[in-house]
Amino acid sequence: MEMSSSLLAVSIFTIFLCIDRKAIGWAPPDPTEGFVSLPLNSSNFQIQKPWNLLENQRYRFIDGIHWFWVFSTDQSLSRNSNTKPRSEIRIRGYDYSSGVWQFEGYGYVPNGTSGVCIMQLFRAKNANTTLMIRVYDGKLMYYKREILVPYIYDEWFRLNVIHDVGAGKVSIFINGILKLEFNDSGGTFHYFKCGVYAQGDDSYYMESRWKGIKVLKKCD
Ligand SMILES: *[C@@H]1O[C@H](CO)[C@@H](O)[C@H](O)[C@H]1NC(C)=O
Ligand SMILES: *[C@@H]1O[C@H](CO)[C@@H](O)[C@H](O)[C@H]1NC(C)=O
Ligand SMILES: *[C@@H]1O[C@H](CO)[C@@H](O)[C@H](O)[C@H]1NC(C)=O
Ligand SMILES: *[C@@H]1O[C@H](CO)[C@@H](O)[C@H](O)[C@H]1NC(C)=O
Repeated sequence: MEMSSSLLAVSIFTIFLCIDRKAIGWAPPDPTEGFVSLPLNSSNFQIQKPWNLLENQRYRFIDGIHWFWVFSTDQSLSRNSNTKPRSEIRIRGYDYSSGVWQFEGYGYVPNGTSGVCIMQLFRAKNANTTLMIRVYDGKLMYYKREILVPYIYDEWFRLNVIHDVGAGKVSIFINGILKLEFNDSGGTFHYFKCGVYAQGDDSYYMESRWKGIKVLKKCD
């Protein structure tokens, strides 16, 4: 009896995760509605940092917060690469080519960090990325094209990025509010990254912090 009731409770909980909570009428609309959060642990976080440095010289994980920093004079990811300096998490284990996927994280960029990408949706048909979220002089931007938030320094913000591969659409939510929706650029495989990756016109010191990182997938 006890066994079957706990099984029932688990089933109800699982169903609950996948039903439209808005329809019940007691929860506010949320970008994660209709999505399930997938299991994530340290093995899903591959740290990418300047090739000549130790990981803990450019990344720390303290009290649930991932800290990333680089200097504009740092080396690239690999000795033979001509890419700019980075300290990033490459989320692995959830590379995707179809379906509707979501990245969620709480980000923080200190005053002064500029000319830097802080989140990427990697790969597109004829480009390295489908999306870069960057910071220029306090502005949170979609590449260098559109302003998502006019001033982002020194405060935690919630970021949700949804990629509907079949529909070819990407949506960006900041603090639960839809800021931008755009057509993706195709491609057959993608994954998420966050941290700091210099982009030109970069400040000498670049830092971002992330917590509550989740990868979610839309319920079938
Ligand atoms: C992370 O989860 C995977 C299963 O998804 C498991 O095989 C692995 O041991 C876990 N690693 C850590 C460090 O907990
Ligand atoms: C940000 O840094 C600049 C340059 O150091 C300084 O002038 C400005 O007052 C700072 N802004 C805030 C909000 O701390
Ligand atoms: C991808 O990035 C590499 C390294 O920055 C660059 O050399 C290459 O031209 C980029 N590819 C495309 C298609 O933009
Ligand atoms: C986005 O794609 C749709 C088709 O799915 C098309 O009708 C629309 O014009 C595209 N928008 C832009 C800005 O390219």
